[in-house]
Amino acid sequence: MSFPSDFLDELRARLSLSGVVGRRVKLIRRGREFTGLCPFHNEKTPSFTVSDDKAFFHCFGCGEHGDIISFVQKTEGLSFLESVERLASEAGLSMPQQTPEAAAREKKRAGLIDVMSAAARWYQGRLRAKDGQEARHYLTSRGLSADTVEAFGLGYAPNQRGALTQALKAEGIGINQLLEGGLIKQPEEGGATRDFFFDRIIFPIKDRRGRIIAFGGRALGDSPAKYINSPDTPLFQKGRVLFNLDGARLAAQNKREILVTEGYMDVIALSQAGFPGAVAPLGTAVTEAQIEELWRLAAEPIMCLDGDRAGRQAAFRAADRALGLLRPGCSLQFTWLPQGEDPDSLIQGQGAGAMRALLEQARPLVDILWEKEVTGRPADTPERRAALRKALRQSVQSIPDPELKADYQREMMRRFGERFDRSGGSSQGSGQFKPHRPGQRPAWRGTDRGIDRGVGRGDLSPSAFSKAPYQAAAARLRRRQEQVLLAGLVNHPGLLVQMAEDLATVLFGSTDLDRLAAGMLNFAADQADKPSDTSNPMRNPQHLVDQKFDRDLDRETLRCHLSDQGFESTLQGLTNADVYTHGEFARPGASMEAARLGLLHLLSVMRERGEAAEARSERLEFESDMTEANLARMQAKQKISQESQTHRQDMDRYEAVKQSEPN
Ligand code: UTP
Ligand code: MN
Repeated sequence: MSFPSDFLDELRARLSLSGVVGRRVKLIRRGREFTGLCPFHNEKTPSFTVSDDKAFFHCFGCGEHGDIISFVQKTEGLSFLESVERLASEAGLSMPQQTPEAAAREKKRAGLIDVMSAAARWYQGRLRAKDGQEARHYLTSRGLSADTVEAFGLGYAPNQRGALTQALKAEGIGINQLLEGGLIKQPEEGGATRDFFFDRIIFPIKDRRGRIIAFGGRALGDSPAKYINSPDTPLFQKGRVLFNLDGARLAAQNKREILVTEGYMDVIALSQAGFPGAVAPLGTAVTEAQIEELWRLAAEPIMCLDGDRAGRQAAFRAADRALGLLRPGCSLQFTWLPQGEDPDSLIQGQGAGAMRALLEQARPLVDILWEKEVTGRPADTPERRAALRKALRQSVQSIPDPELKADYQREMMRRFGERFDRSGGSSQGSGQFKPHRPGQRPAWRGTDRGIDRGVGRGDLSPSAFSKAPYQAAAARLRRRQEQVLLAGLVNHPGLLVQMAEDLATVLFGSTDLDRLAAGMLNFAADQADKPSDTSNPMRNPQHLVDQKFDRDLDRETLRCHLSDQGFESTLQGLTNADVYTHGEFARPGASMEAARLGLLHLLSVMRERGEAAEARSERLEFESDMTEANLARMQAKQKISQESQTHRQDMDRYEAVKQSEPN
């Protein structure tokens, strides 16, 4: 219905905005305006302003903006009409006259709601009565407390046809109203009307304001239809309603998470177990209207689905549906139940903690979309990869917001790149390097015997060299290089993930650095093992090339982690000006790209040196014991060493050319 504008003006004039807002937000007067903590986003210092003069509120933090009506809409989750109604009654204004037809419809609806409430009361009474005993036992056997039964207004429709009609007749409710409310039905073959529900547990279905608009009924025993719902009526369209929407609204206001599950019993069990924000569609897949309804409660409701194929399919469908509605800040999350469980059985069997754990594993919509597109789609030839790329691009076409669409597009391409564009054709994504854990000695790559076998062979221990001054200088240089390497990685944690595989092959000359490197590798492995989180730059090398992800935050996280592991003093020995003079690129302020190139170069120099040492050691071995086998080994090592050197020189030339190029 539309309002004459003077009615809305009158409404705004009669109520003060600060008065209405002040009921939800603690406001402090500042001159002609009020400020407070914004109810639309989390903040510690007030940036939410209310102006009675201008009749609007505005948040300088999140940009939320509106008038008294939209404030009620947004904070109470009411429609425009409902908000006006609410405010009008507060202001003592009667709603403007409607067309006679609209007024009649309105009256009928109101009348029908009374009918539904009367029926609900009667069903509740039956549950408490003698013939409700079996139903009561059933509910107890399903683990529901008396409080829960009460809170959800559960009832029982007894096995006596016509009893509801009889009872409500006494309250002045006629057959036509019962028919209209879907409480009785007219048999097709004619004859007397029948109760819609009999011998069933009754679950009242309410609208978002808590008014009963329909019922669900569960058979007590075996029945071909385990659950039935009221037919659609003027009050009830099942695709627009969610079970427990009113309860979830309250939960959302208390900042509880919103969960979407499949069944009535799941919602009730969740609520009893301390998850009051659970809702369920009514035996259908989640509709667009229901997704919109969910977003009035929470930015990212969590869909709790079966772990089986059907559950995946349901997730894909919901993801598709949500994509077409997506807007900044509103999305869905998904979590999967163990095979054969629903939230109700999980909670009964394993307790609320198991449910909590599942919620913590919830995955974002973008993950589901990615999975949907890549599952069962081979990408082992260029043509198939091209097809996948195209499918990925198309999958995000339905996102209406252009910026969000572009971002999804980029994210899909990034994942595609991570999976298929890596050198070596790896299809595993990140996290496949096997870093050495503490206690395991890192070895030079390709070593079959030699330095990691220890004592005196190929090691850079003094015995490998004949001249003491040379030895000391070499050891100093080596330590410097190792320090620069670790400092560079500490200061550019993104590169740590990229280079972990290389780092794992470095044999450090001293145990303090060796241990620190092991600690850093553990950290990198944890980062790579973390469940996919696109906001976590540590996870994704492609991202890391981008300077903006080489953030102080990550540096801090890594440092704290290492500090906690007892590496603080080792770290201080590294991250200082003395070390940086031996490698400017290791400084925290150096650009990511400079650091990357510097570290790669350093790694190859170090590898070369190690290989040269191995070759030397093999030569000594051969000189002391001139067998064919030792000759072959020496030659092999010399070849490896030579190849590394050539490779490194090529790389140096390549970098020099690249750097001399404009831009
Ligand atoms: P389920 O068959 O998974 O039942 O249906 P449930 O929720 O686990 O119920 P309990 O634990 O056996 O009591 C999930 C939902 O699908 C709808 C209902 O809304 C139900 O809650 N449904 C199911 C129907 O509408 N009709 C049916 O016959 C079965
Ligand atoms: Mn169940």
